[in-house]
Amino acid sequence: EEATAKRKDAHLDLCATGDVEPAGNSTLLEDVRLVHCAMPELAVEDVDLSTEFLGKTLRHPLLITGMTGGTPRAGVVNRDLALLAERHGLAFGVGSQRAMAERPQLGETFQVRDVAPTVPLLGNIGLYQAVHLGVDGVRRLADAIGADGMALHLNAGQELTQPEGDRDFRGGYKIVEALVKAFGARLLVKETGCGIGPDVARRLVDLGVRNVDVSGLGGTSWVRVEQLRASGVQAQVGAEFSSWGIPTAAAIASVRRAVGPEPRLVASGGLRTGLDAAKVIALGANVAGMALPLFRAQQAGGLEGAERALSAILAGLRQALVLTGSANCADLQRQPRIIVGQLKDWLTTL
Ligand code: FNR
Repeated sequence: EEATAKRKDAHLDLCATGDVEPAGNSTLLEDVRLVHCAMPELAVEDVDLSTEFLGKTLRHPLLITGMTGGTPRAGVVNRDLALLAERHGLAFGVGSQRAMAERPQLGETFQVRDVAPTVPLLGNIGLYQAVHLGVDGVRRLADAIGADGMALHLNAGQELTQPEGDRDFRGGYKIVEALVKAFGARLLVKETGCGIGPDVARRLVDLGVRNVDVSGLGGTSWVRVEQLRASGVQAQVGAEFSSWGIPTAAAIASVRRAVGPEPRLVASGGLRTGLDAAKVIALGANVAGMALPLFRAQQAGGLEGAERALSAILAGLRQALVLTGSANCADLQRQPRIIVGQLKDWLTTL
């Protein structure tokens, strides 16, 4: 249990300042071009960015994806970023609640409802930890923080690079099935930076999963984070696999095509600007997710720093809608878009 907390703070240190976004990895969002409209016939403030998520209405189609909890430092991150989500009408997720399941007194560091009473709030647990906790244990974690939904994270790539990580990935769909029964539309299944592809997404949706965060390659690499903590063979294999995954642009476009219009899709992994967010929405996402940029802005400049970073992201997103002549996200999804380069290759196969 102590080990879980230590690992968490080591992860935060590495993510705050370490080389966790391997050079050369890409979301492939640079292979997406939105088309300029010279006569938008829109006022910036009239652009409607609202969208439905977890039974609530977001003012902006953004999710600050699950990162942390379990240490005092993590508690401050959660509260600052949840407050930001409340101010701007975003959704917010806490990080893995495993530490809290092991030591209930750590629960406090996941509590954000007092600063974020209206945000769609996601709890978080790993797929295989959910087995140990059982459906009731997972439900208790969600209830304990007043969550609107539960994020179930997939991280096989990370586990295999972690000396103490899981080595047996059988039975995953069975676990998902049990959680769908308990949580229904409140369950979200997410990756953690290696991407969910169309085949896995289709199987999840067939089991009744209604929310998927593809969390693709191009941003924070958890294989790299573990590589930086590992030694010997594990470090070597970690280096080898730190560019492993489905780029975020390829994941979101192919998953939307595979699952049809109904499921709520979040696209995250390497989104760094408002224009990135606009591009994933154009490719079929309902909500754009970000973790590292807001975490880093918070670590460097506190709540005000995170506020400044978010303002630039929101301004860029709004500008992308205006300059494509889109009054809302549905309009943006109907606009023409150009797909070039490697992304085109991915999408001919996926
Ligand atoms: C994460 N991520 C993550 N995901 C999850 O489901 N449970 C978790 O506990 C964590 N912890 C965590 C900590 C930190 C510091 C970061 C930066 C990220 C993964 C995160 O939700 C997201 O899927 C990836 O980081 C990809 O998005 P970015 O960071 O490239 O925007």
